[in-house]
Amino acid sequence: MKDRIQQLLSEINAFKAQNKEELEQFRIKFLGKKGVMGDLFNEFKNVPSELRKDVGVLLNDLKNKAQEAINNHKEAFETDNSSTQAIGDITLPVDLGQVGSRHPIAIVRNEIIDIFSRLGFTVAEGPEIEDDWHNFTALNFPLEHPARDMQDTFFIEKDPDIALRTHTSSVQVRMMENNKPPIRSIFPGRVYRNEAISARAHCFFHQVEGLYIDKNVSFADLKQTLLYFAKEMFSADTQIRLRPSYFPFTEPSAEMDISCNLCGGKGCSFCKHSGWVEILGCGMVDPAVLENCGIDPTVYSGFAFGMGIERITNLRFQVKDLRMFSENDQRFLSQFKSAL
Ligand code: DAH
Repeated sequence: MKDRIQQLLSEINAFKAQNKEELEQFRIKFLGKKGVMGDLFNEFKNVPSELRKDVGVLLNDLKNKAQEAINNHKEAFETDNSSTQAIGDITLPVDLGQVGSRHPIAIVRNEIIDIFSRLGFTVAEGPEIEDDWHNFTALNFPLEHPARDMQDTFFIEKDPDIALRTHTSSVQVRMMENNKPPIRSIFPGRVYRNEAISARAHCFFHQVEGLYIDKNVSFADLKQTLLYFAKEMFSADTQIRLRPSYFPFTEPSAEMDISCNLCGGKGCSFCKHSGWVEILGCGMVDPAVLENCGIDPTVYSGFAFGMGIERITNLRFQVKDLRMFSENDQRFLSQFKSAL
């Protein structure tokens, strides 16, 4: 009996099935009801008791080896099978690879555009490389204003001055020069400042400028427009507060705060425990600016405002470090898929 077992063992070791049918035949031959193993276990009853222990071990070993050979083949056939199916089965879903998502700045910019479109504002853009007239002089900046300094502005050429625009207010000038009132537009875009880069400052960022010029436009119109924006952008219970401020191109000027939407105005580390967060600058367009752009200030008046998109995005998504917006890190960007 020992010889028989040895011979079957070599057969199992040498076994290689070409297909599933061959494997099934092998299984039936060894482990089937009327298979080899069954016969051997039957014969085992007649083995003399002194040999039983040895033969028993050999028999069990043989059975395990047969089962092992079957399992190994099965596994190989299964992996093979799925790959041939993936190539051949046209009903399987297509692998689209990674689907990208919109950049958080683009998501928020589009929302701002949507909100102002509902109030009838159109969208326009201006150049990022700007001359002195559009970025500074037409906007009433005095010659000695610090923003004109090399430290704050990236100059490309001096005399005549050409620079990377420091704000989107330059597009106001271009709009008024080229269009007759009524004007009701917003201007989104990228702006540049020569700042030391940190979590809270960057050498470039994004703004949206707004301009409304018509007959009889008042400060009340400005306030109501910005209140509508704040409620639409954040939540219906958002409050606004206007603080007197100074900009060369608006008179009077104000800075607008919204009630902190992270703590509901109670005070937290984001709003420095004041309950308010500054989001934009605004004011009534200075008559001198209207005149510079060929609009008669005795007939027309208007308001303007400018906000940083990164600021608004931080309030929406609580991004702590400005640099993340431009590092192109997939781990950061892919988190905004659901915000589309
Ligand atoms: N241009 C200003 C800045 O970059 C923002 C600003 C303030 C724009 C007041 C305006 C305005 O239109 O009226 O800081």
